[in-house]
Amino acid sequence: MSTLRELAEEHTQLRPADVDHLHRIAGDWQLLSDLSFADLLLWVPVDGDESFLCVAQVRPTTAPTAYLDDQVGRIVGGPEVAHLTIAYSQGRIWREGDPVWYGDVPARHEAIPVRLRTTDGEAGEVIAVVGRDTNLSTARTPSQLELNYLTTADDLAQMLADGTFPPPRHPGETTSAPRVGDGLVRLDASGKVTYASPNAQSAYRRLGFASHLVGEDLAALHRRLATDPLEGTDAANGILAALRGEAPPRREIDARGATMLTRALPLMPAGVPIGALVLVRDITEVRRRDRALITKDATIREIHHRVKNNLQTVAALLRLQARRVGIPAARAALEESVRRVASIALVHETLSMSSDEAVEFDGIVDRVARAAAEVAATDTPVRMRREGSFGVLPAEIATSLVMVLNELLLNAVEHGFPPSDAAPEPGAVAAGAEVVVSAHRFRKQLHVTVDDNGRGLPADFDAERGGNLGLQIVRALATGELRGSIELRNRADGGTEAVLVVPLAGPRPR
Ligand SMILES: Nc1ncnc2c1ncn2[C@@H]1O[C@H](COP(=O)(O)OP(=O)(O)OP(=O)(O)O)[C@@H](O)[C@H]1O
Ligand SMILES: [Mg+2]
Repeated sequence: MSTLRELAEEHTQLRPADVDHLHRIAGDWQLLSDLSFADLLLWVPVDGDESFLCVAQVRPTTAPTAYLDDQVGRIVGGPEVAHLTIAYSQGRIWREGDPVWYGDVPARHEAIPVRLRTTDGEAGEVIAVVGRDTNLSTARTPSQLELNYLTTADDLAQMLADGTFPPPRHPGETTSAPRVGDGLVRLDASGKVTYASPNAQSAYRRLGFASHLVGEDLAALHRRLATDPLEGTDAANGILAALRGEAPPRREIDARGATMLTRALPLMPAGVPIGALVLVRDITEVRRRDRALITKDATIREIHHRVKNNLQTVAALLRLQARRVGIPAARAALEESVRRVASIALVHETLSMSSDEAVEFDGIVDRVARAAAEVAATDTPVRMRREGSFGVLPAEIATSLVMVLNELLLNAVEHGFPPSDAAPEPGAVAAGAEVVVSAHRFRKQLHVTVDDNGRGLPADFDAERGGNLGLQIVRALATGELRGSIELRNRADGGTEAVLVVPLAGPRPR
């Protein structure tokens, strides 16, 4: 589907400033649609004939739509658009006429001319027409709320025709504006509340104001309610600005632990300031969640940092102990433990520096591989290489995966290239001793292989159950925490290959 700008450029002679104004309307007209209980269609005259092109459409969230199909891109001419032609050529709101039937939906048509004021504030030309079409099938005697909405809608429609609605945008307003259904308050020219919707009444109750809003001076009330006096004055000034005919930026009011977002709009049909419209939304929960997320994030990072510190302390203690034991086998076992603990610390270190519970894993693998290479016998240097990328992995996968890789890499170095291999011909084997870690993603799975070109698995090796603690850890983590599979086999051209497959999608047990 084409955008408003594309449609306008292709079919009309509208100037860029005109198109910008139409964009501003489409950005703010949900308000008018909701207050009108009507669909709004933005029509622009099509060059050279009596037809109109629909460039934008919005449906009311307060009432059923009059159009089940999308109208954008439709070009209509003839009697069907007579009301648009009148509004366009005479520059006045057209609202007489009998209901029109769309299939079995009766609808009332109205047409509001859209005027763009000149930069020096003159009335300017009519550049488009907004069709306001109400589905009448559910119409009934309007309630007080509906009457108030419709009156306000008529004021805004007149302002659309005057070129004073929508108001200019304030840059950097990221939170979506409060909507009609969130809470609506109407003020008269003196700033007193003449109507407050039930939701608005509830929002003010949360701020600590329990009585009826009607008759209240809203600016004074905001000043009184806000916990922070500066915020209160600021909120009051916003309302006073709207009463003067300006469009102030949105404001937040905090009181009694609750937060309310407010948007004040001037009401000045035909240029006469008759009051203001204030939309309010209780955003207490949104703000509470924002705050909770920020602290939760910082807390998690701090915990990772401490876990890393603790693991490094454990590794240091084991290293100390390893230096003191005389039995070589016991010393080797302790040193192995040091490496296991250190590899997990690496993951926590990385997590403590990232803002989410996921890590860029390649850097971790490279560091673990470098540490494993240092274990190699001095006369058989082993080259480490990584192919492909692990990408970003969630924390729970990363912690298990780093342990699995640590064991596989150590095995490749220790058992693939034992010192005796190099003894007869120093240098000859060393030149080609290589361990390759490769990773790639395929169909939501991570495929990892650890290859060495060493001497291969022992002849009596039991691929299913064989091994000591190292491979037990590998199998337990691969099939348990990682919910994947691991396979060890001899390579056709010599050496050993470990193949690990880890599913990346789907929930995993904690
Ligand atoms: N890449 C490899 N090349 C050759 N043999 C290997 C390789 N990987 C494992 N093996 C064989 O499998 C055995 C079991 O490995 P495992 O890691 O379970 O125990 P380990 O390395 O002997 O001791 P540790 O528990 O300290 O790791 C090894 O002793 C070795 O014989
Ligand atoms: Mg091992």
